[in-house]
Amino acid sequence: MKVTIFGTGYVGLVTGACLAEVGHHVMCMDVDVNKIDRLKDGLIPIYEPGLEPIVKSNIESGNLLFTTSTEEAVNHGQVQIIAVGTPPDEDGSADLQYVLAVAESIATHMDDEKIIVNKSTVPVGTADKVRNLVETTLRNRSLEVPFTVISNPEFLKEGAAVNDCMRPDRIVIGLDLHGESRRTVETAMRELYAPFNRNHEKILFMDVRSAELTKYAANCMLATKISFMNEMANIAERVGADIEFVRQGIGSDPRIGYQFIYPGCGYGGSCFPKDVKALINTSKELQYQSKILEAVETVNNTQKHKLFDLICRHFNCSKEDASKALKGKTFSLWGLAFKPNTDDVRDAPSRVLLELLWKAGAKVQAFDPEAMEEIQRIYGLRGDLSLVGTKEAALRGADALVICTEWKNFRTFDDEYVKTQLSAPVIFDGRNMYEPERMKMKGYAYYSIGRSS
Ligand code: NAD
Ligand code: UGA
Repeated sequence: MKVTIFGTGYVGLVTGACLAEVGHHVMCMDVDVNKIDRLKDGLIPIYEPGLEPIVKSNIESGNLLFTTSTEEAVNHGQVQIIAVGTPPDEDGSADLQYVLAVAESIATHMDDEKIIVNKSTVPVGTADKVRNLVETTLRNRSLEVPFTVISNPEFLKEGAAVNDCMRPDRIVIGLDLHGESRRTVETAMRELYAPFNRNHEKILFMDVRSAELTKYAANCMLATKISFMNEMANIAERVGADIEFVRQGIGSDPRIGYQFIYPGCGYGGSCFPKDVKALINTSKELQYQSKILEAVETVNNTQKHKLFDLICRHFNCSKEDASKALKGKTFSLWGLAFKPNTDDVRDAPSRVLLELLWKAGAKVQAFDPEAMEEIQRIYGLRGDLSLVGTKEAALRGADALVICTEWKNFRTFDDEYVKTQLSAPVIFDGRNMYEPERMKMKGYAYYSIGRSS
């Protein structure tokens, strides 16, 4: 099939590469000229395991094309997929300007039948807005061309995006058609996703509004699990229990499951924080207060301060007056990305910590296997941040080590070496990577999440 994808970010590029890999003819369009120029040369703008080889091989085979021309992009595909960003507006609602700009572009250039597929995460009712905009634009062109707008939310995870795309748990398709036109669109969507819909039926057809809400419900449920566990960790700490035992104790119940119950220094990334906010906002607009989601957000915001709270506790200062004790201190920071296997630092817990430490007059020596360029791009050059090439180099002369991301490379370290590098053996572990008993035996002051020893 001929497919066009608007937006070559995490979702658009991965989806484009995977659809090309299974034999579709894909054209990816982006307004970022530099990005598209680099992609044409096979240079991948993001770190995503397994993505580079499939982009390169499909550029070579001619299955994957890149353009900045909207006209060329609209002419290419029978299916037009919108995968542009939907960042939060000031009030927390999803900013639809990019989605609507693409919809208008499609309507401005289309002259044959199109299936417009919305893959961006958008509030319920967005498909109606897209449909109205396309209709109005076509009317202004005095053109009558049939089109359909469907909702097809994406569930991939950064760091595992290629695998998630190639082997999805489910493919949600929301469409509000009946009769023959429904059958035609369903058939087209089945053809598009047939290579991924193997072994058992994964396609779930539903109405558009349910599909749009399914995406928010999924992310909000996962965020809720994490905030719930962080709440339990805070209770565990106070009652003298170990949250890691509790995690295993509840995860072994298949009704609860082991996934997304890892406590830590808060959830980050471009989606959970923004999607929880957006659904709170949608509810508010409908005069409904989502008390659960508000609590999920509050717990997470507090949890992102957790490492700084522990630092203040260790150095005997209050958060409000932290500079008294922390000014001039140097902290070694392992992990900047919001999670391992990505270079994405959007809403990363590390950034909250960095900013709190800087505000208190402390310096940071940081290492991350992939995310240092992004951090540099965001914060620029500054005297209180040095980004170094190895986890060992980040330790040199620091007053304590802090861990924000559980990269595999951080799982083990040479105890004696670390002690010789730090001015004192102190570790703040935001991802519960080590055993408290063992760390104690080795002579560390070791702080983790929800483990009292
Ligand atoms: P991103 O910010 O990485 O990429 C968006 C891309 O869209 C950018 O390259 C930007 O230049 C481009 N763009 C903006 N306006 C455009 C236009 N008019 N025409 C063409 N391109 C345009 O975004 P992302 O992380 O891929 O997320 C995209 C959407 O998918 C969001 O709604 C997000 O919530 C959702 N989502 C993201 C993930 C994820 O893991 N990142 C997973 C599932 C769903
Ligand atoms: C998340 C969802 O998992 C995807 O299904 C969804 O498609 C995507 O959002 C989206 O809509 O963009 P992603 O943000 O890439 O994917 O990463 P996750 O693996 O979900 O992790 C999100 C955050 O939660 C990270 O900061 C991670 O450290 C944290 N987390 C995750 C925990 O603190 N504990 C856990 O048990 C799991």
